[in-house]
Amino acid sequence: PLLSECFNLHDFEAVARRTMKKTAWGYYSSAADDEITMRENHSAYHRIWFRPQILVDVHHIDLSTTMLGTKVSAPFYVTATALGKLGHPEGEVVLTRAAATHNVIQMIPTLASCSFDELVDAAQQGDQVQWLQLYVNKDRAITQRIVQNAERRGCKGLFITVDAPQLGRREKDMRLKFVDPGSNVQKGTKTDTSQGAARAISTFIDPSLSWADIPWFKSITKMPIILKGVQRVEDVLKAVDAGVQGVVLSNHGGRQLDFARSGIEILAETMPVLREQGLDDKIDVFVDGGVRRGTDILKAMCLGAKGVGIGRPFLYAMSTYGQAGVERAMQLLKDEMEMDMRLIGCNRIEDLHPGLLDTRGLFVH
Ligand code: FNR
Repeated sequence: PLLSECFNLHDFEAVARRTMKKTAWGYYSSAADDEITMRENHSAYHRIWFRPQILVDVHHIDLSTTMLGTKVSAPFYVTATALGKLGHPEGEVVLTRAAATHNVIQMIPTLASCSFDELVDAAQQGDQVQWLQLYVNKDRAITQRIVQNAERRGCKGLFITVDAPQLGRREKDMRLKFVDPGSNVQKGTKTDTSQGAARAISTFIDPSLSWADIPWFKSITKMPIILKGVQRVEDVLKAVDAGVQGVVLSNHGGRQLDFARSGIEILAETMPVLREQGLDDKIDVFVDGGVRRGTDILKAMCLGAKGVGIGRPFLYAMSTYGQAGVERAMQLLKDEMEMDMRLIGCNRIEDLHPGLLDTRGLFVH
């Protein structure tokens, strides 16, 4: 189909399923075990309903907001996804360019196919902000170099992935022999290509990473530190105590622990506790996983998220239609959000609040 025939983010997935190379589709679309968590990530949003307010002047709608001090055009960002060149010969730089056009933030993955410098150079042409996603190497000297280089090159946030001491079993991916399209594989990697893409490139990751390491990260960088992959309110409270600036409530797109809960459910569990303890100003809470619609984004913002990350849909758009595809996917989300804001009776993102939602069914599985 033509790009103009893609009317929502699901359409890109359908085209990708039919047209992408098997190995790339296997790596991007797969999730852990029976993929229950991956499906739950999106369907959890189906258990939240709106309570719109009427007769508000919604002539003008403003989707802009601020994430970690950066003004952005809408409350979503491109989250880190590894191996962009599996889907598109130019790799993640395609996402960089699309994000710059739309003034949204891109989180650069440790395991990008493009070099870190290439992605930063591309962003700086568009005056666009980037964050770094970090997989922590067993060799901390390597990690320190990566972090300090990112800060020197202008990255505005350090997202440490904490849900992947070992990469999950993604069987769709494991069944396919992996050929590395070029990635920033690090020292400490034993590249065994018989276990799929994910496992082949990730053996350098340190499973001994713990809360005791957080002060060290704070000592080597001034970038805000955000823990990506937090799954319970108790750990959000620990993150506040550890003095980090943020958390991403996420289960890694369902790719790690199957039967992990959805980010949106964890958000609904977390924010009331933070408010009750007067801590909601102490930490920025992001969420990702299964966000496919403008309404999904608004629900997360109503519950108190500072922004939402989107992974696979942008990969599918990139793989099928290149930069124009990613730009259209972003525009569709903005169009949906603008209309949804009108229909729930809100002009600005900061006016969204939990009272606009009915979440009674969210915790009923
Ligand atoms: C990911 N994700 C991820 N996360 C991370 O911290 N480091 C990484 O290298 C990757 N790589 C990666 C590859 C692919 C193909 C996918 C789909 C995901 C997880 C990602 O950042 C995010 O948590 C999820 O993708 C969000 O879910 P959706 O939007 O894909 O449903």
